[in-house]
Amino acid sequence: MKALILAGGFGTRLRPLSCTRPKLMFPVANRPLLDWIMESLSRKGVKTVILAVNYGADILSRYFGKSKFGMNILYSRENKPLGTGGPIKKAEDLLNDDEEPFFVLNGDVLSSIDYAVLLRFHRANGAQVTIALHEVENPSRFGVVELNGESQILRFVEKPRLEETSSKLINAGVYVLDHSVLDLITPEAKVSMERDIFPTLASKGRLYGQRFDGLWTDIGTPGDYLLANTAMLNIIAKDRPLIGKDVEISSEAKIVPPVVIGDEVIIERDACIGPNAAVGDNVTVRGGSKIANSIVFPRAWIDSSTSVKNAIIGESAILGRWVKIEEGCIVGDHVIINDDVTLAHVKVCPSKEVEESITQPSTVM
Ligand code: GTP
Repeated sequence: MKALILAGGFGTRLRPLSCTRPKLMFPVANRPLLDWIMESLSRKGVKTVILAVNYGADILSRYFGKSKFGMNILYSRENKPLGTGGPIKKAEDLLNDDEEPFFVLNGDVLSSIDYAVLLRFHRANGAQVTIALHEVENPSRFGVVELNGESQILRFVEKPRLEETSSKLINAGVYVLDHSVLDLITPEAKVSMERDIFPTLASKGRLYGQRFDGLWTDIGTPGDYLLANTAMLNIIAKDRPLIGKDVEISSEAKIVPPVVIGDEVIIERDACIGPNAAVGDNVTVRGGSKIANSIVFPRAWIDSSTSVKNAIIGESAILGRWVKIEEGCIVGDHVIINDDVTLAHVKVCPSKEVEESITQPSTVM
């Protein structure tokens, strides 16, 4: 079995952290998102993964190389963004060496979708495309499907307004495709599967959907990213913190699960980590500081009596003493936040220094 993973988006909604790494390399519970996806594909018997890359291609190929989790990894490189459909056409030669249907995955989705079940369902229906579906409370920012009975997709409505559909079943960003779909995609063009291909297939009765419950979350926005991290922490470290190698954690520090802590982390006395916190490798948290509902990328330095809540702290960022990083903040890589500064709803671009408090939504550039 083959799987093509769409891995080339710019991830604009996750700037400034996506300025320095592709979204698929963002750590979720201290591992790149794509690691989690690849591991679950390999467990379901996928032998070859094709990464459709563009933005951040070198970072991905350096990390994943030619094989991982026992799967071969091939790269299909674009010279310009081709959307969600163009990259599939671009990889045609890599996909066409057998007749089997193949998986296509949005690379920014963390889910417990059972790929083998999806494939069986696809075959049983003789579908041209089968989409994994997931029910959400508010479908307005997703592609929503309306089903004819249990499984045939009648209509595909992209980002519907409330009055447009009563369905709450969304396209989960995981598909099984027959090779015949490649003939429908214009070569070297920016093509959206959701807007250009699926509605046509639905009108011909060749588009099927299978509903999955369980874990499903994408990491499109900072809020989604924090939720995905929390969801994964609850799976792997719900009752007991997961702690890396060579850490120095004071016996007078408090760890409140779910928490993951990377290798060579230092946590000093009276610090409190958690709940819902992922602390990357080589991070230092000095005495009395608190981190909750947050993600701290590797090598950050958090000085004493500082607090980080509902926020994301980039790689090698330095937070001074008595700093407060509040709800909705994204601190870019190598940023310096001076002592006594409070930030709320602020994005700080890489390598900036912040000297004064900001509590209005804004970006420091
Ligand atoms: P935003 O800019 O924040 O919308 O993020 P994005 O660029 O990642 O777009 P989106 O969330 O719609 O992408 C869904 C999936 O498709 C992600 O895994 C992207 O990496 C991938 N993707 C989006 N555009 C392209 C593209 O032009 N080429 C490739 N290969 N993948 C893409």
